[in-house]
Amino acid sequence: MKTILYLTDFYYVAKGRAYYREDLYITSKLKNYFNILIGHPHQANSYLEYADIIIFRNTGSVMKYEPYFREFVHNVKHKGLLTFNSFDGKGDQRGKNYLLYLTRIHFPVIPTVDKLQKLDRLGISESYMVKMKNGADSIGQQQINIEDIHSIELSGKIIQPFIDFIYEVSFVYLNDRFQYAVYAPQKDKRWELIEYIPSASDIAFADQFIQWNHLTRGITRIDACRLQDGTLLLVELEDLNPFLSLQVLTKNKQEIFIKNWIEILQAM
Ligand SMILES: Nc1ncnc2c1ncn2[C@@H]1O[C@H](COP(=O)(O)OP(=O)(O)O)[C@@H](O)[C@H]1O
Ligand SMILES: [Mg+2]
Repeated sequence: MKTILYLTDFYYVAKGRAYYREDLYITSKLKNYFNILIGHPHQANSYLEYADIIIFRNTGSVMKYEPYFREFVHNVKHKGLLTFNSFDGKGDQRGKNYLLYLTRIHFPVIPTVDKLQKLDRLGISESYMVKMKNGADSIGQQQINIEDIHSIELSGKIIQPFIDFIYEVSFVYLNDRFQYAVYAPQKDKRWELIEYIPSASDIAFADQFIQWNHLTRGITRIDACRLQDGTLLLVELEDLNPFLSLQVLTKNKQEIFIKNWIEILQAM
């Protein structure tokens, strides 16, 4: 049996989500196929070599322990450790800069700039969303009216138009394979999710980001918003430690997801 070091912060408090419950479920399933060591992401650097595979899971926002996290990623690269996710993604695992790039190359993302001189590239908007480039869990996120936007301090931040979307939908992938989607039909309740059955064009939408990101191994969540005219725009390409909302799925679908994941881990 291979050994997995499963990194998670059971006590991380996230709005509307019980991270630890998901990890208790996942580890209870993985333990039938692997030896499981459970570690805390804030103190794993001294025992990384004890496992064949390191799973980086519901570890919370890395903002709160950024230097230690950087050291972790450095160790993984220099010691050639096998991690899931791999750390070669271009999405959220490197902060929100990818949104600037995807905007420039005309991918369907919420238009994003990081300089006030470029505000006109966002189209007409009465209000804006300002976010920290290294933010997560909505930390530091602010809605700003057009009258106030010119006086905002923008270093380390991005600006987007404030979008009046209908709902948010998340597409979950294992490597480059779509697994399931969930959505929040009530927009003010972002984490009250139910399963969403995507159309072929919804999946094609999400696939293009997976292909662009080209992550070697991992779980990716593509978060999108549905606009009033029916189109989808990317909100976030979460390729570091997406919460999976597995509890929303039927038992059968949960098991299929776990089975697919175990197959990938066994082949690593
Ligand atoms: N441009 C926007 N307009 C309106 N709402 C937004 C916008 N960007 C984000 N949001 C809302 O804020 C939430 C968090 O934003 P997100 O970009 O996913 O940041 P985080 O990294 O903090 O998860 C989204 O799920 C969505 O509900
Ligand atoms: Mg998000």
